[in-house]
Amino acid sequence: MKTILKVQNLCKSFEDTQVLNNINFEVEEGEFIAIMGQSGSGKSTLLYSISGMDRPTSGNVLLCGKDISKLDDEKTSEVRLKQMGFIFQHSYLLKNLSIRDNIVLPGFKLGKLSREQVNQNADTLMVKTGIDSVAEHDIKKVSGGQLQRAAICRALINQPDILFGDEPTGALNSSTSREVLDIINAVNTEGTTVIIVTHDVKVAARAGTVIFLMDGNIHDKLTLGKHDGDEEKTLFREKRLYEWLEEKAF
Ligand SMILES: Nc1ncnc2c1ncn2[C@@H]1O[C@H](COP(=O)(O)OP(=O)(O)O)[C@@H](O)[C@H]1O
Ligand SMILES: [Mg+2]
Repeated sequence: MKTILKVQNLCKSFEDTQVLNNINFEVEEGEFIAIMGQSGSGKSTLLYSISGMDRPTSGNVLLCGKDISKLDDEKTSEVRLKQMGFIFQHSYLLKNLSIRDNIVLPGFKLGKLSREQVNQNADTLMVKTGIDSVAEHDIKKVSGGQLQRAAICRALINQPDILFGDEPTGALNSSTSREVLDIINAVNTEGTTVIIVTHDVKVAARAGTVIFLMDGNIHDKLTLGKHDGDEEKTLFREKRLYEWLEEKAF
């Protein structure tokens, strides 16, 4: 297995408040990592610091062996556009564009493929995620679940090495959340590395490894192993994770 992301002695402070305190971990290609912890423990800050959305105060973030923590803003945007996809609690799609136009935008921006090829890739993604029927719809005319699927398609349009998510199911009801999770699982099974922040046990139980943050430190890690989608095993994983979290008074 190849290491895709290596985080070394990462610290992050805002003015004189230290939020992340010497974080070290490695992610192998194709892994699914969930980051959990109390509100305010530094989960989002960690995700942003390892994905170029924010700059660490000190330490290194190696993506495929290259330190991305010291790149200038332009190079950082390029790495993010080429190698990373992002999903958040809200989809942040552009209001005056259709679902399709939102999805293809990062593909056009990267400019690696022709517009036709980008459109074809968008079609494939929309079929996979079940939103092809609303491709030309205004984003105000589709459901929250469809918006989040579109956000996933947009995140995947440039075939990123890593898909990052910050509470990607946080605004969805449980059945929609499950559908979105199944999509994230499928993306991971096809080889994309996934790193998501979540407070939801059902989400984290899909991950191979769960990292528990406490006061800006990695307090503990739980290895669940690859999830194969089996219903019974899912329940067992959730139970195991509940027990592990209970010990932490989560
Ligand atoms: N831009 C910022 N400026 C100042 N403090 C921040 C900023 N972002 C986060 N923090 C602080 O860092 C701590 C961790 O925040 P965050 O990473 O959002 O936690 P979590 O995602 O685990 O809820 C909190 O105390 C928060 O107030
Ligand atoms: Mg957060």
